[in-house]
Amino acid sequence: MRELYGVMGDPIRHSMSPDIHNDAFKRMNINADYHLFHVIPAKLEDAVNGARALKISGFNVTVPHKTKIMPFLDEIDELAIAIGAVNTVVNRNGRLIGYNTDGPGFVRGIYEKLGTPLTNKRTLIIGAGGAARGIYFSLVKEGVTQIDICNRTLENAKSLIKQCPYQVASEALSFEEALKKIAEYDLIVQTTSAGMSPNISGLPFEIRGSLQSSALVSDIIYNPLETEFLKQAKEKGAMTHNGIDMFVYQAALAFEIWTGRTPDTEMMRNIVVTKLG
Ligand code: ATR
Repeated sequence: MRELYGVMGDPIRHSMSPDIHNDAFKRMNINADYHLFHVIPAKLEDAVNGARALKISGFNVTVPHKTKIMPFLDEIDELAIAIGAVNTVVNRNGRLIGYNTDGPGFVRGIYEKLGTPLTNKRTLIIGAGGAARGIYFSLVKEGVTQIDICNRTLENAKSLIKQCPYQVASEALSFEEALKKIAEYDLIVQTTSAGMSPNISGLPFEIRGSLQSSALVSDIIYNPLETEFLKQAKEKGAMTHNGIDMFVYQAALAFEIWTGRTPDTEMMRNIVVTKLG
């Protein structure tokens, strides 16, 4: 029987997930389809029960449902519980199990880019919202031992550090304080929405001082492909990395959870880049 997959969100029209998953299903001769499911918040519980009743094999969950969906699932993976958000659900014999592949997808993308373990990378995360949380906990789970968090509102950075369930050395910093130490970091991760289209001139702060030439500066934004923050980082001599990989690898990890098979991530990246124009 043809298996059914999809993504629940509101809005959902612009999602690129059907393009990449349907292409991978076709290439790998998997008899399955991936659809867009426009689910408004008031209908989320019905939609989850409907997915169970219809024996949908798996689905992604996107804005605004990633946290609200949790009580409606039968089981949730430990990391997704810690992060407090689910973006991938698999149906195992009628039980819906939730995972978070956003943070682990980011980690996999960085690992593939660097080709070396991340454990000894002194890391700075910019931002303390939902995206920062997923990336922070996933990096710690991966074994990274020193991760500072800087944020416009210092209290939010402090609170995020307090909530980390795993062992890590972390300091909460203002943007000014982070800039003073900027040369000490091997990995800098920009997670705020500053610089995202249409406000492409925005950035969390102007990079002053030098970066290590071996430092990797990553921005999770992929529209535009090169944010103002990444442009500045490049000018300061650092390597840069945009948000496409996080999107691609969160999808690849979801695909692995659903099918037990590894899709061609290069193909997935090509589709995303083409779609973004
Ligand atoms: P997401 O789930 O996408 O991470 P979020 O939870 O709303 O979104 O978090 C947004 C993050 O971006 C926060 O760290 C926010 O800083 P505050 O805690 O001070 O609100 C940060 N942010 C948003 N716009 C920003 C801007 N223009 N400059 C700097 N930081 C910004």
